[in-house]
Amino acid sequence: MSETSRGKIFVTRELPGSALTRLQQSHQVSIWPHRTPPTPAELLDNVAGCHGLLTLLSDRIDERVMEAAGSGLQVISNYAVGYNNIDLAAAGRRGIRVGNTPDVLTDATADLAVTLLLAAARRVKEASDEVRSGQWQTWEPAGLLGRELRGKTLGVVGIGRIGTAFAQRMVGGWNMKLLYTSRSPQAEVDEKLGGRRVELDELLRESDFVSVHVALCEETRHLIDAAALANMKPSAILVNTARGEIIDQEALVQALREEVIFAAALDVTTPEPLPPSHPLVGLPNALVLPHIGSATDTARHEMAEIAVDNVLAGMSGQALRCEVPL
Ligand code: DGY
Repeated sequence: MSETSRGKIFVTRELPGSALTRLQQSHQVSIWPHRTPPTPAELLDNVAGCHGLLTLLSDRIDERVMEAAGSGLQVISNYAVGYNNIDLAAAGRRGIRVGNTPDVLTDATADLAVTLLLAAARRVKEASDEVRSGQWQTWEPAGLLGRELRGKTLGVVGIGRIGTAFAQRMVGGWNMKLLYTSRSPQAEVDEKLGGRRVELDELLRESDFVSVHVALCEETRHLIDAAALANMKPSAILVNTARGEIIDQEALVQALREEVIFAAALDVTTPEPLPPSHPLVGLPNALVLPHIGSATDTARHEMAEIAVDNVLAGMSGQALRCEVPL
């Protein structure tokens, strides 16, 4: 289909910046107008007859959605680097291209992982709660003692783009020793950051700070379970900016309650949004943020540009700017 034949596109949310106007200039675009995602039924209704979809990580794009769109669907462009919300096998069977938005959110997400680690190490949530609740009485020699970073051991679970950017910040900033897991040796990480590739067991046992950066797939679901948590140091801090389901959250609640580990700082949870009544929200040694890893103006604008480029390329039968291999 040529761009000018006004193929139909459904965009599941407004995006920051002006990227969507590029779609509107040449195609028939409908944009979901609400702040919250369409329900599964609303999604099925809205995708009917579409040639392109621009989706968010909170939209589950399964075979039913592809079926409802019909045989004209050519591309699903996800506004995220992760694509665990899309049934890739179904897309592959139907010859639908899938796009994502890597690289442009690497710095923002790595920065947030550093923020979480520091906030947990220095007990920022408890300290801030003390001020807000009027429990700040005086300067105390042993009040709210946290953990220092310099020279400690950092464990990076999954040293891809974001894991590497995070490790650079931590090793450079605090002279930390680096352990990491990876499917293959990473010579550059070893040379430049003094990293050592190890098995997950050793990483958990030896690290003072553990940060999760693997993609969510069947292999990584509940990778950090009760046994993994029990393997960590009682002084350790766990950070997750990847996907909530990589951690067995019930096991984590238990581990934090029983002080099996010192603290956890999470940008991602199961489910999202996490209800305010969830035990993690009330625990003093858990810090939970609402999935804001890529939430900088620069990253979100650039993600929008890539997502739009991906839709346009897919609808004209070309390789996507950032294409997920199927
Ligand atoms: C992604 O792009 O996958 C992130 O989780 C969004 O911040």
